[in-house]
Amino acid sequence: FTPKRLAGKRVLITAGPTFEPIDPVRGITNISSGKMGFALARACADAGAEATLVAGPVAQATPRGVTRIDVQTALQMRDAVMRNVLAANVFIGVAAVADYRPATAADHKMKKAGGDGLTIELVQNPDILAEVASLPNPPFCVGFAAESQNLDEYAATKRAKKRVPLLVGNLVQDGMGGDDNRVVLFDDSGRHEVPHGPKDAVAEAIVEHLAGMLA
Ligand code: PMT
Repeated sequence: FTPKRLAGKRVLITAGPTFEPIDPVRGITNISSGKMGFALARACADAGAEATLVAGPVAQATPRGVTRIDVQTALQMRDAVMRNVLAANVFIGVAAVADYRPATAADHKMKKAGGDGLTIELVQNPDILAEVASLPNPPFCVGFAAESQNLDEYAATKRAKKRVPLLVGNLVQDGMGGDDNRVVLFDDSGRHEVPHGPKDAVAEAIVEHLAGMLA
């Protein structure tokens, strides 16, 4: 790992899940631990970047030298990203942002209504990465794609749709929640496999590739 390859760069990273409240004690979330995003923030800071991490609700320690902004919901994550993105040279979307949120969150704990079931209306959340990538002067955007099958096909489609130069693909069964990951990097020059390993090592390999693209 060549140190300081991101010296002078400001990198904005999202990590973790989001939590979309249903009522004061319940919500919709997912099993993202934040480990991959925190490992990337650490690797960016180690490479000399000024790293800002917008984190959903996770139990991870803030890496040394990283500025952390804690959020709960996708809307809060989007606000925090938009407040900080104009200063960023690079944006890395690692967060597993909930695609949908309850249309309304009840003010008080919902009571069991009886009867057959309960229907909760969901509305779509903004796509933070797509919004950042479509800014007039976007930072260099790195997207992630978490898939459970057909990684190459879905990741390539996502890269084109979200218009990002670098997309990191991973299978949820390889990387979501755990300490290790296996990723494939997709860019204009094709696909680049990063071997299975601890998320810190995978993050260093991603930062190496990113630094090469920025150089
Ligand atoms: O947190 P860990 O337990 O370490 O797990 C790591 C991880 C599996 C969560 C991570 O490596 C990963 O793949 N993150 C992306 C998860 C995801 O939501 O992927 P997606 O394919 O649904 O989204 C594609 C991209 O758009 C991602 O960069 C995502 O951050 C972004 N996105 C998605 C939806 C949305 N509303 N806003 C977004 O910005």
